[in-house]
Amino acid sequence: MPDGEAPLPAEAAAAGSARYIHPLRIGDVQLANNLLLAPMAGYTNVAFRLIAKEVGGCGLVASEMVAAIGRPTAAQAERFGTLTRTVPAERPIAMQVYGREPELCAATAAALERAGADIIDLNCGCPVRKAKQAGCGVALMREPEQVGRIIAAMRRATSRPVTVKMRLGYDVQHRNAVEVALAAVENGASAVCVHARTGESKHGMPIDLGGVAAVRAALPPAIPVIANGSLDSAAAIRAAKDEAGADGYMIGRAACGDPWLFRNLIAELTGAPRYQPSLAERRALLQRHFDLILELYGEERGVRVMRKYAFFYCNGLPGVRRFRAEFCRIASRADFARVTADFFAALERGELSGPAEHLVLADDAADAEP
Ligand SMILES: Cc1cc2nc3c(=O)[nH]c(=O)nc-3n(C[C@H](O)[C@H](O)[C@H](O)COP(=O)(O)O)c2cc1C
Repeated sequence: MPDGEAPLPAEAAAAGSARYIHPLRIGDVQLANNLLLAPMAGYTNVAFRLIAKEVGGCGLVASEMVAAIGRPTAAQAERFGTLTRTVPAERPIAMQVYGREPELCAATAAALERAGADIIDLNCGCPVRKAKQAGCGVALMREPEQVGRIIAAMRRATSRPVTVKMRLGYDVQHRNAVEVALAAVENGASAVCVHARTGESKHGMPIDLGGVAAVRAALPPAIPVIANGSLDSAAAIRAAKDEAGADGYMIGRAACGDPWLFRNLIAELTGAPRYQPSLAERRALLQRHFDLILELYGEERGVRVMRKYAFFYCNGLPGVRRFRAEFCRIASRADFARVTADFFAALERGELSGPAEHLVLADDAADAEP
């Protein structure tokens, strides 16, 4: 709650909590709440998802996108194994298919179900050049009928609910999210997530909740519409509900700088106090994340993978920018231990008492190859 604002009376808090935060059903999958972790290639592996679930309490986690490939090479098969690694503690989990050929997407959906997916999502939003050239990701927004064919094929191939994650349109001249959403739902999609930007707008640009409202108005009430795009505060979530009628909220980059975000959004929207992690908790969680990453990737690759997560656990603290710069050079477990110990010791001694520094995931982080 912002400084100076009076606490909500209990009744108002309860009404507010029911309006914004509530359980959500997608097909036969019951979510404890309607805050969802966005799929993020290069980030939402099992280690990060587990932490988002355990610490933040989000209602649904999502895998990185998984390419629909006909005859995978050994390296691609190994990558599939890493991308789809899951553990019971993070469930329910949505796993995402990236592709355009209905039968390949269907076969991938079946493989994702075997790997443990509770929900299978279709990527209709990835805006990178390679995706557009391949007719995948946001390029599918230009082909509503193809989206319908893919969803129908995925539905036939899996017993799990199938969902679609899309943008408002391929570009500002072609804003056809309603048409694509209807094609998906008519062919069996159980929920629709709308990133409230078109394919050409960068993540820093304003979202357009009017486009999400149009999708909400066009679909049957039983089909949840999830809003996405810069929903990084309680005020943004209230707007997604009040202006677009969103049933759920998907959060990406903001969860990267703050694993406690989901928990604190729920607190703020239900009138409960915010949670402030201690330095010891931040450090313990950073260590836990590192241990999980080492388990997933081994030391050589794991150390490199971990570099990008460093600031997640120290964001908003003085000196985090310098810490990230040093962390980005770690090459071994020993480096991790040294850099982390130095930073937290300096914090505890009050040596880093400058202004709080807030880092955000760079916009171009999303331009990773699919
Ligand atoms: C690093 C990164 C990777 C992403 N990877 C995917 C992906 O694999 N599948 C997908 O549908 N969207 C992907 N996205 C888009 C996010 O799911 C989300 O739609 C976008 O970041 C907007 O939400 P936000 O403002 O809460 O971050 C990615 C975004 C980022 C920043």
